[in-house]
Amino acid sequence: MSDIKRIFYEKFGREADSFYFSPGRVNIIGEHTDYNGGQVLPFCINLGIYAAVRFREDTNVLIYSDNFSNLGIIEFSLDNLDFRIERDFANYACGILREFGKRGFSIKSGFELAIYSDLPVGGGLSSSAAFLDLIGKIVIDRFGFDLSNTDLAWMSKTTENEYIGVSCGIMDQFIIANGKKGNAIRLHTDTMDYEYVPIPETDFQFILINSNVTRKLTESKYNERQRETQAILRELQKHVPINNICDLAPEDYKIYERYLFGMNLKRRLLHLLNENHRVTETIFAIAENDYTSLGQLINESHESLKNLYQVSSEKLDELVDLGRKAGSLGSRMIGGGFGGSTLNVVLRQDIETFIQRFTEMYQKEYNQDPIIYLVEATDGVRKIND
Ligand code: GLA
Repeated sequence: MSDIKRIFYEKFGREADSFYFSPGRVNIIGEHTDYNGGQVLPFCINLGIYAAVRFREDTNVLIYSDNFSNLGIIEFSLDNLDFRIERDFANYACGILREFGKRGFSIKSGFELAIYSDLPVGGGLSSSAAFLDLIGKIVIDRFGFDLSNTDLAWMSKTTENEYIGVSCGIMDQFIIANGKKGNAIRLHTDTMDYEYVPIPETDFQFILINSNVTRKLTESKYNERQRETQAILRELQKHVPINNICDLAPEDYKIYERYLFGMNLKRRLLHLLNENHRVTETIFAIAENDYTSLGQLINESHESLKNLYQVSSEKLDELVDLGRKAGSLGSRMIGGGFGGSTLNVVLRQDIETFIQRFTEMYQKEYNQDPIIYLVEATDGVRKIND
């Protein structure tokens, strides 16, 4: 906090008047289901973006990120929010600010904003959704717009989809807007119904390993998976009245796979139906303190993402392997895939041995230290006191 206060003062020559924190997220299970009407089980983490802000009299917006200090202060006016390559990451801000206008909410004054993030960029922990929700939240608070957290999530998602050009689902923006300390959220993306799921953090620890392979979702095969699943849905709808692929149950696979052309589409379908079901099973396992089953489900999810949905990578597979050898109950890649981080579920009493073993094996394999984060479930995007 004191860092972001100081950074703001150094850059803008006056004190900020409010401070925010916008967290990253981890999804326990339910991967790639969110754009197929399925369920997800994410939580907000204790890593994220710290922000200091002060509104102005005029319509200029000035943004400085300490993580991209080489870019200096990026400046634009509320009167021109078009995507411009030289605005770099600040395009996300332009995009969501424009979204307010499109929905009839007029933003009268610009602002100065300094941010610092301890989220690894491209670490698969949703730094872009954290940034979008952050800007949205600051504006909603300032002007008192009548918009719910879920409205905020949709505005951020629309910005990603239409302005940035990533066809992502609603999970990341939603959890960052709605997260609650000590809880994950089970979100049904078909109805947008959700419930909080307490995480018994006294029993086990979620440990992330950053693969250090950054991938940009826009450049990855993420959009390709979107197109594939849309093709699957169109084909299935000729034979069964469903709105989403995840309306089907795992046992329906046998009935409907024959209508799909080619092995890849069949694989994608199988992943989605099983993965969606694994969310329900995971919630049971957590509620019953059955951590062996929890670990197994996490492991199955990884195998499915690797072999059926085919969004893993060599490095992610290696890290998952090391995690299991180091004594996790279960390990898997998380998020969009092709890079980012792995999630390891480790019993509390095994944390130290896990870290020690993992570090030794990693150093031997890669000749460097691993990047390890112990994460906890925190509140979503919020104003903080200085
Ligand atoms: C990315 C997207 C999410 C979701 C995950 C995969 O994080 O932003 O909407 O699709 O990938 O589960």
